[in-house]
Amino acid sequence: MGKMRAAVITSSDSGYAGEREDKSGPLIREILEANGYEVVHSILLPDERELLAKEMARIADEGLAELVLTTGGTGFSPRDCMPEATMDVAERTVPGIPEAIRAYSMTITPRAMLSRAAAGIRKSTLIINLPGSPKAVRESLEYILPALSHGLEILTGQASDCARR
Ligand code: MTE
Repeated sequence: MGKMRAAVITSSDSGYAGEREDKSGPLIREILEANGYEVVHSILLPDERELLAKEMARIADEGLAELVLTTGGTGFSPRDCMPEATMDVAERTVPGIPEAIRAYSMTITPRAMLSRAAAGIRKSTLIINLPGSPKAVRESLEYILPALSHGLEILTGQASDCARR
C-alpha cells in the first residue's frame, strides 16, 4: 500500500503577517513524516473563514491528499474560525475524532475543553482540526494517529470491513 498523502494548513493572523513563527505547522509535518505519511502541501493562512474553506475544498476536490490537518483557529478569539470553515466544506461530519482528542486532552489540561475543533470528510479527504500550540498538536496527534490509518484505508477503499480484519 502506498503512503497516505497529507496536507497541513496553519491558521494564524500573526504568523501570516510574519510577526510570529509558525512552529505547529512544521511540527505536524515532522510527526506525519515520522509516521509514514507523505506531506505533499503545507500553507500558512490568516484567520479568514472563506480563505481557509477554499483551501480545504481545493485539496479535497483536486484529490491532492487523503488527510488534511489544520492547526490554530479553534479557540475563543474573535478571529478563530477554523471549525466554521471546516464545517463549510465538510460533506459528512466526523465528531468522534475531536471528541477523542478533547477527552484525552482533558486528562492533561482542563483547558482542552476550550478547543472548538471539528473534523469532517469531503470526497475522499478527511479534515481534522488540531489546536494551535505545538504542545497541544503533539499530544493530540500522538493520541489519534494509531487509529487514523484504519479510517483512511476505509475512506480510500483500501480496506472495506473492520470485522474481517
Ligand atoms: N489540548 C492539549 N492536548 N494540550 C493543550 O495544551 N490547550 C488548550 C486546547 N487544547 C491544549 C489542548 C487551549 S489553552 C486552547 S485555548 C484550545 O486548545 C484552543 O487552541 P487554539 O486556539 O490554539 O486553536
